[in-house]
Amino acid sequence: MQTRQLGQSGFAVSEVGLGCWQLGGDFGPINEVTANELLQTAVDCGIDFWDTANVYGNGQSEAWIGKFLTLTGYSVRVATKYGRGPDAFPDRYSLTGMRDSVRQSLDRLRRDRIDLLQLHCVPTEILKRGEIFDWLRQLQDEQLIEHFGASVESVEEGLICLQQPGLLSLQVIFNLFRQKLVDELLPQAAERGVGIIARLPLASGLLAGRWTPETTFPPEDHRNYNRDGEHFNVGETFAGIPLDVGIGLAEQAKRIAAGRPLAEVALRWILDHPAVSTIIPGARRPDQVKANAAISNLTPLDDSLHRSLRDFYNAEVRRHIRGPY
Ligand SMILES: NC(=O)c1ccc[n+]([C@@H]2O[C@H](COP(=O)([O-])OP(=O)(O)OC[C@H]3O[C@@H](n4cnc5c(N)ncnc54)[C@H](OP(=O)(O)O)[C@@H]3O)[C@@H](O)[C@H]2O)c1
Repeated sequence: MQTRQLGQSGFAVSEVGLGCWQLGGDFGPINEVTANELLQTAVDCGIDFWDTANVYGNGQSEAWIGKFLTLTGYSVRVATKYGRGPDAFPDRYSLTGMRDSVRQSLDRLRRDRIDLLQLHCVPTEILKRGEIFDWLRQLQDEQLIEHFGASVESVEEGLICLQQPGLLSLQVIFNLFRQKLVDELLPQAAERGVGIIARLPLASGLLAGRWTPETTFPPEDHRNYNRDGEHFNVGETFAGIPLDVGIGLAEQAKRIAAGRPLAEVALRWILDHPAVSTIIPGARRPDQVKANAAISNLTPLDDSLHRSLRDFYNAEVRRHIRGPY
């Protein structure tokens, strides 16, 4: 597993991390035994950067991570978030609320300090006002958090956050179906030394290219209950592409990948962008964790494949993306 620096003043992380939203049950029911298998496999593969949030499973994802790491003693950097609970979103943000949320996260994670606290898709207006970043710096002074970053929905929001001194990282939706960031946001983040954490690297699984129009998901799975943005930003589910369209696009992408597994090409494509510090694929099975970790050791895609994937995005994908982008 190769490592990269996360932000100029930050720390080194495995370039393949682990997304831990699934530990909250939003990809269908999950139990702690399975969660521990996923976490253990991640450690075995050298994945030492895990992304979670206070709201995933109402704290369950953080709690399982905290218990696992305490019992095993492994050293893993854990990034969590603040900003989407009912006590905060969309307009109840406060320093006190942020501090309380962080203390609760610390309890669940069984830590004295949060490695990286990310704003969790807070509204654009709140980001523009900027006060919320002063609170993050305040919690840093209080030693409750080591670093802060922001998870954002759009390029506009990313550019707003980049103006903030001390921002370590931006977490963005970046994958073969969401290439807009390449033009402006990634170069500016690199110039400012801000790390990029790429979420939804597989567009919620679409970019594994295994689904057919008959594929269904359990009721608790956001790929069922939020497939058209019914509950939160449509972009967080299938990267904002209608499922039936996305299945067809994945078939087209498979033809461009010319026999290579699409998930492999999709993840390698992201890592080929030097501005990216780490990708955080979610995984529901240990074999997926292993396959994703293995991408780190592959050579970059050749230039002609990069060009074909760019042309494909511009000609076929871009117009289908819904939601903030
Ligand atoms: N607002 C935010 O800040 C925000 C929002 C969303 C996500 N995130 C973070 O980003 C992480 C990743 O996003 P995500 O899990 O939503 O999307 P993702 O990583 O694009 O997709 C995860 C899904 O891809 C499939 N998959 C994973 N590895 C695979 C492999 N090797 N081969 C085939 N299929 C594979 C699995 O689908 P099956 O379940 O069908 O097997 C898995 O559930 C989350 O866990 C979370 O930490 C943050």
